[in-house]
Amino acid sequence: MGNNNIYPIFDRMMTRDDKEALLGQHSLMVWFTGLSGSGKSTIAIALERELHQRGFLCRILDGDNIRSGINNNLGFSEADRVENIRRIAEVSKLFVDTGIITIAAFISPSNDIREMAADIIGRDDFVEVYVSTPIEECERRDVKGLYAKARRGEIKNFTGISAPFESPEHPALTLDTSVLSLEESVHKLLELILPRIQETGKIR
Ligand code: ADX
Repeated sequence: MGNNNIYPIFDRMMTRDDKEALLGQHSLMVWFTGLSGSGKSTIAIALERELHQRGFLCRILDGDNIRSGINNNLGFSEADRVENIRRIAEVSKLFVDTGIITIAAFISPSNDIREMAADIIGRDDFVEVYVSTPIEECERRDVKGLYAKARRGEIKNFTGISAPFESPEHPALTLDTSVLSLEESVHKLLELILPRIQETGKIR
């Protein structure tokens, strides 16, 4: 790849510490993984709203948004999913380095893909949250009608039907939205996240 003749200027730019101090928060990557229709985006949006109200600056990156913009040249082959997540992780890292609480909602279907994301972003900043809603429930909801299409063979490589999904091995938190209400899920997330993003000595 074309990495010759590149001279990064990171050492002369304002640092993440400077930005975090400006914002009065510690940044973090909250990475939701799970099947299509499991509730990742809904929880991400509710979490962002809750954190925003408490004065935290957040940024959501979400599958359907990113795939209609920066990643609109990618499909759902294994290689394209890797490239999808690689770019998302690189973009997320920019946000985390800007002091922003960054919330990603992508299927990210394999341990390898999620490990790559954690490596790019930095393991210390990476909080993996598994939205474990069973496929039967995702398919029953079928909010976008995609499971029905996948069953009819109109979408190939559909995660959970004709493409694999590997459950994470050691997620920081598991949320099954067929059991938990949205409020309960957000409450569990806040318990996990607030202590890590609050500037010490400042409770909100
Ligand atoms: S990922 O596997 O590369 O992480 P991503 O989260 O970006 O997937 O996109 C998933 C969304 O794309 C789904 O919620 C669904 O709306 C749509 N989609 C379209 N085709 C597929 C497919 N073959 N498999 C999974 N999701 C698909």
